[in-house]
Order: sequence, then structure tokens, then C-alpha cells
Amino acid sequence: MYTIRFTFEQSGLAPAILEAVKPGQSLLEVALLNNIELHHNCGGVCACSTCHLYVESGEQYLEEISDKEEDFIDRAVNPRLNSRLGCQCVLQEGQGEINVRIPDQSQFLGE
Ligand code: FES
Repeated sequence: MYTIRFTFEQSGLAPAILEAVKPGQSLLEVALLNNIELHHNCGGVCACSTCHLYVESGEQYLEEISDKEEDFIDRAVNPRLNSRLGCQCVLQEGQGEINVRIPDQSQFLGE
């Protein structure tokens, strides 16, 4: 089980702290289940970059990044060293704390 703390680059959004999150689901799925807005234009199959997020800590609890994921991260807005695609970050068996920062989702308005 994990504790996941979501913070947001969009101003005015308070952090969301989720507890007892089960492994086997992706950060995208966790976000959507908890009413956290995270775009997912390709439906979560690593074919876009709209679920881009930053893993500030706890990356060791997530499925490792693939070459394909890296390619799509290169096309994301403002990629950083800790960039990941939320749909590819499947929680592995284990427990711990993960800190995730969500880019401003309003950048996708009108897409
Ligand atoms: S939803 Fe498209 S890559 Fe994650």
C-alpha cells in the first residue's frame, strides 16, 4: 500500500494526499479514480504525452521507464529529468510514499 501526495502546478489547487493506495494500478488510474484531473488523450496506451507528470520522489516504486515512454516524454510540454507518463507508472508491489507533481492541465484546453 502506498501514500501518494499529488501537488499541482496550476495555481489555486490544494495538494491531495491519498492513503492506502493499492499496487497494480497506474498513477493515471489513481488520479482519475480520485477526481484528480490528468489528461489521457490516447486512453493510457503510451501513445501521447498528455498524462505527463513529474515524480518528485518514490520512483523506485513504479514500473521502470521504457524507450517508448521516453520518446513521448520528449514531446511533452516542459519535460524534466523526473518526467514520466502517468499511464505507464504502474505501482509495484510494496509500500512507501510517492510524491507526484501534475503540470498545469489547463494547457490542454481547446485540444
Ligand atoms: S495517456 Fe497517452 S501516453 Fe499516457
